[in-house]
Amino acid sequence: MEIFLDTGNTDEIRQAVDWGLLDGVTTNPTLVAKTGRPFLEVAKEILKLVDGPVSLETVSLDAEGILKEARMLAELGDNVVVKVPMTPEGMKAVCSLSSEGIATNVTLVFSPAQALIAAKASASYVSPFVGRLDDISSDGMELISKIKQIYKNYMFETKILVASVRHPMHVVQAALIGADVCTMPFDVLKKLFQHPLTDKGIDLFLKDWQKVPDRPF
Ligand code: E4P
Repeated sequence: MEIFLDTGNTDEIRQAVDWGLLDGVTTNPTLVAKTGRPFLEVAKEILKLVDGPVSLETVSLDAEGILKEARMLAELGDNVVVKVPMTPEGMKAVCSLSSEGIATNVTLVFSPAQALIAAKASASYVSPFVGRLDDISSDGMELISKIKQIYKNYMFETKILVASVRHPMHVVQAALIGADVCTMPFDVLKKLFQHPLTDKGIDLFLKDWQKVPDRPF
């Protein structure tokens, strides 16, 4: 499963790149607004830092407007993936973009039916939002299983990108189901490393190392 960061913060991206862990980045208008920086400045910096796919979101609601924004975004780099909302106008734009060879990510997906439509429109990625479903007492991960089954039934090539991730168990469940990608906030990525027994084990090994005579380091 590929690991993406869901952020507009370039310091976080730089750190994940340093760890050698980052396969791509997703952004959205909220995440870019949080940076307080101009959109194009942030987008260009992310594209310089990341070799893998970088999702940048359109904001028009009509197909013509989405297409205009998508073509502009695609000019920014070969690894740009244009994020388009799950609406009839959005899917009209996704169909055109896929025939133009522009990668797309259908966002704000909350049902298996919407994921089916995204795949029929030949989207490169579909983004089901698991956390926002859990927030309203629905089962986000159950949606991922259903999409996985539907895509398997018809051998759709659209990649399942698990989004709106809130904690490490979302990541683990996504991997167990066999999602293609999981995008997560930086604090969730950091938590993937953590286990109290690892910390305890390191402490013990370091203490015992002090007892070893003639240590070479
Ligand atoms: C997906 O690409 C979105 O950017 C994101 O995962 C939304 O997550 P949220 O529900 O935490 O805002």
